[in-house]
Amino acid sequence: MIRISWGTTRFVVLVGTVAIKMVRPRPLWVLRRLARYLITGVAPKRLLAYADNPLESAAKHLFAGVAVNRREYRLWQEFPHHFMVPTLYSLRGIVNIQMRGQAISEEELALSHPFRSSLKGMTPDAIGDMVKAMNFCRYEGHICLLDYGSEDTFALFSQPEIQHHMAA
Ligand SMILES: Nc1ncnc2c1ncn2[C@@H]1O[C@H](COP(=O)(O)OP(=O)(O)OP(=O)(O)O)[C@@H](O)[C@H]1O
Ligand SMILES: [Mg+2]
Repeated sequence: MIRISWGTTRFVVLVGTVAIKMVRPRPLWVLRRLARYLITGVAPKRLLAYADNPLESAAKHLFAGVAVNRREYRLWQEFPHHFMVPTLYSLRGIVNIQMRGQAISEEELALSHPFRSSLKGMTPDAIGDMVKAMNFCRYEGHICLLDYGSEDTFALFSQPEIQHHMAA
C-alpha cells in the first residue's frame, strides 16, 4: 500500500519496503513572508532561519530539502550508525531512497530511546527534533532515526568519538 507523508522540507512516498523522500519547496510560504518583510520592513523570525539577510535566507529556504537530503545520505555513507534507517540512494539531493520503517508512538520512544545520552551536547531545538516519535520508526525490530539530515545531527553524529561510544 502506498502512503504519503509530509515533512517540512521533504514529502515522502512510502511504497513497499522503501521511503522515497522528495524535496518539498514551499514558494508560497516564502513569498508570503518576503512580502510581509517588504511591506513592513520587519523580517518574520522564521524567514531568517537560514541566513541573516532575508533574501538570502528565502533562497536557501526554497532548497532546504536538497541540503537535508544530501546531508542525510552523506551521514549514512560516512558515519552509519545502527540506530539509523539506511539511506540507499540520493539523486543529487532531489530524491533520496531510504528503507521504510514502521511508525512508533511517543511512549515507545520515551521508553527506549536509542541514544538519549548523546543528546546532551546538542542545542535545545535539535534535542526537540531528536525526541519526537515522528522522526523515528521501528526498522528490523529496533527503534531507528529516520530524519538525520539537519546540520546539528550531522555535526553530532559525524564525530568519530561518538561512533566508538555507540559501538561500545
Ligand atoms: N524511512 C521511513 N520509514 C517510514 N516513514 C518515514 C520514513 N522516512 C520518512 N517517513 C515519514 O515521513 C515523515 C517526514 O519525513 P522526515 O521527518 O524525514 O522529513 P522532514 O522534511 O525532515 O520533516 P520535518 O522537518 O517535518 O521533521 C516522517 O515523520 C515519517 O512519518
Ligand atoms: Mg522529521
